[in-house]
Amino acid sequence: MSNAYDVLRAHHNVLRGLGSRFKAAPVGSAERQQTLDELLREFTIHMRIEDDIYYPALAAASKLIAIAHAEHRQIYDQLAVALRTPSSSPRHVDEWNSFLTVLEAHADEEERDLVPPPAPVDLSESELEELGNRMAAEMERQRNSKFEQLHVKARTALLKAF
Ligand SMILES: [Fe+2]
Ligand SMILES: [Fe+2]
Repeated sequence: MSNAYDVLRAHHNVLRGLGSRFKAAPVGSAERQQTLDELLREFTIHMRIEDDIYYPALAAASKLIAIAHAEHRQIYDQLAVALRTPSSSPRHVDEWNSFLTVLEAHADEEERDLVPPPAPVDLSESELEELGNRMAAEMERQRNSKFEQLHVKARTALLKAF
């Protein structure tokens, strides 16, 4: 079992890896679409784990958490722009690269500022383990849940439509 910091860092690396694979795959290829599906699934899980579990545990660092939430909204906005840009558009690749850039910048910043968080947040070893286990279990649950995966697809369709 691992602590919350390890869980987050490891999952950031999963997202970074999927991002590079997506960028490297030719536009319009099945591999690019498959990698995107996986990226959006893991991305959605990641945002929810942070919004629902990790950030609330760090509530005492209120200013940094407010910034992090604002960045999550920006990332979703850029995702919506990318999803709405057809692959025939000359902007398509740029919009997806922008999405990955804001996502990676946020993950880097998070690792710098919130993993671990500054005072007054003070998590003990056992609290970190408990938090990390809860996060890892919830990630696994969402990954294996048909309902949650339908939710990701529905949300993607919604972002595309509006
Ligand atoms: Fe985040
Ligand atoms: Fe993150």
